[in-house]
Amino acid sequence: MTSTPQHIAIIMDGNGRWATAKGLPRTEGHRQGAQTVTRILEAAHKRGIRYVTLYAFSTENWKRPADEVNTLMDLFRQYLKKDLSELEKQSVRIHFIGDRNRFPQDIQTQMNKLEQSTRSHDQYHLILALSYSGRDELTRAVKRLAEQVKAGQFNPADVTAEVIEAALDTAGIPDPDLMIRTSGEQRISNFLLWQLAYTEMYFSPVYWPDFTEEELDKAIEAYRARDRRFGKVK
Ligand code: FPP
Repeated sequence: MTSTPQHIAIIMDGNGRWATAKGLPRTEGHRQGAQTVTRILEAAHKRGIRYVTLYAFSTENWKRPADEVNTLMDLFRQYLKKDLSELEKQSVRIHFIGDRNRFPQDIQTQMNKLEQSTRSHDQYHLILALSYSGRDELTRAVKRLAEQVKAGQFNPADVTAEVIEAALDTAGIPDPDLMIRTSGEQRISNFLLWQLAYTEMYFSPVYWPDFTEEELDKAIEAYRARDRRFGKVK
């Protein structure tokens, strides 16, 4: 039997559908979704889950209507200022993965500040995927390695899985044990393409704003019933 996952990664899907089903603007779904983030992080810490990665904004999400993108930026701003400062006090290490250069300067500054100020924490890690996609992360990593080869600092024959891992945004973070996607969709949607190689997948029918501690427990129960073999024979 497998124990509690050390690292869960979540695709927080269904905010828009949750709002539309209630006759509300899609942006209201994101506001509710932000509250779910706080609830689920608390629940995960209570259960001893040390790493939580949240897919909060994909590289493709920049193409959404301006008012939706602006609402999300405001939510991130508020979250970075208020909620993450609270997590900083609770000794959570905060990491951001994705192409942060695309964010407004004030958001980038706050991201850098939080990463710096929580560097020494190790008990809990929160990894926020913002302007992230797996293909973009791999593309940026390959570019960096190619630059090193060009500069004569690195020999192509020395490329290993460890070298690639170290060039990813998630360098130093263990791969997720469990990936949860809410809202009934059963796709990876460009999330952690390298890191999910042996991750157990769990798909919940519940929209993210309605995802509760009990739903998280269902996912953990399902995970515990899985037989993880990592390609080997037991
Ligand atoms: C996917 O639902 C969700 C997003 C693109 C945004 C996720 C953002 C949050 C949960 C709130 C803010 C987060 C933080 C960390 C403060 P969707 O809009 O694609 O839903 P749909 O598929 O029903 O349209």
